[in-house]
Amino acid sequence: QQLDLDIEQIEKGGYEHFMLKEIFEQTSSIHDTIRGRVSPQNKEVFLGGINDVIPKLVNARRILIIGCGTSWHAGMVGEYLFEEFARIPVEVEYASEFRYRNPVIFEDDIVLAISQSGETADTLAAIKLAKQAGATVLGICNVVGSSIPRETDAGVYTHAGPEIGVASTKAFTAQVTVLTMMAMLVGYRKGTLPKEEYHKLIDEFAHLPEKIAKILEKDQDIKELSKRYIESTNALYLGRGFLFPVALEGALKLKEISYIHAEGYPAAEMKHGPIALIDEHMPVFVAATKDKSYEKIVSNIQEVKARKGHVIAIVTEGDTVIADMADYVIEIPETLEALAPLLTVVPFQLISYYIAVLRGCNVDQPRNLAKSVTVE
Ligand code: AGP
Repeated sequence: QQLDLDIEQIEKGGYEHFMLKEIFEQTSSIHDTIRGRVSPQNKEVFLGGINDVIPKLVNARRILIIGCGTSWHAGMVGEYLFEEFARIPVEVEYASEFRYRNPVIFEDDIVLAISQSGETADTLAAIKLAKQAGATVLGICNVVGSSIPRETDAGVYTHAGPEIGVASTKAFTAQVTVLTMMAMLVGYRKGTLPKEEYHKLIDEFAHLPEKIAKILEKDQDIKELSKRYIESTNALYLGRGFLFPVALEGALKLKEISYIHAEGYPAAEMKHGPIALIDEHMPVFVAATKDKSYEKIVSNIQEVKARKGHVIAIVTEGDTVIADMADYVIEIPETLEALAPLLTVVPFQLISYYIAVLRGCNVDQPRNLAKSVTVE
């Protein structure tokens, strides 16, 4: 027993929990995921695992992305990326719905399954269904040699390293990193992503680890801020465009480890229902970095403030407009719009972590949850 505890302490590498260690590892896990795949020198993206199917992807009529939980959220970012860069229609499906609802699958469909563990029962069953229908099935997995990579025709590993905390953190950013590389590559080959943009993305990729490190320097400020919300019973997360899936992911993180009810919404949907919930007690977390929907998200924040809502916004460094309106802002370094999910999610992970720890929850092993869901 004593020995087990000591080994666990060593594995945590000085961090109090695996989740915190894994949040901090994102500087290196993103680096490991792009290493040997994105070359700023040659201005190239190379994904060996799917190299043979690139022509199929370039000519794809549509892509179906399947996954569960956080992997499904990564898939939603993937939808925005593939549609933006490669102009390929994408549908993102919960694996559990896909497998049971008699979906229409064409032989020329590309089905892309995303899973950290590579063992999720619903995702595995959905893959089998897609294979029976004759589709090309690709995987994005973290655990090497797990069941999903063995079932798929080709795929890309995320190289995030072992993720022990039940709440997925570094696996999510690694999945989004792989999806970004894939969408860039396909878009560039197809001619829908202009060379200059492709090169800009490649260059910016190399700066992501240092930008994440800069966000992580705010760790203690975020801990302080989190103290204010430990008594909350509800929380709302808002984002638009690429940051809408980040809002969903922020809400999932909070609910699964702190047991505070949280919902993620596309910010403009707020007026179709959730706005009725707003009062001075409920924190509203907004991903509001500078991008093409910036003006719109500013008005969404105004709508919340007009109803005495309490706003915590993730903003781009130097933003004074939102700083004047929101109750708190967390500044993050500027990046390209399509890469913003990789940065904006980090403060949300830390907020959830600290709220949960301060509430006395077991963050690494939340109640009722398993790291990999191998049953239906
Ligand atoms: C995320 O924090 C979860 N614990 C959970 O939603 C998870 O992402 C989901 O079960 C999918 O797992 P997978 O990526 O291993 O397939």
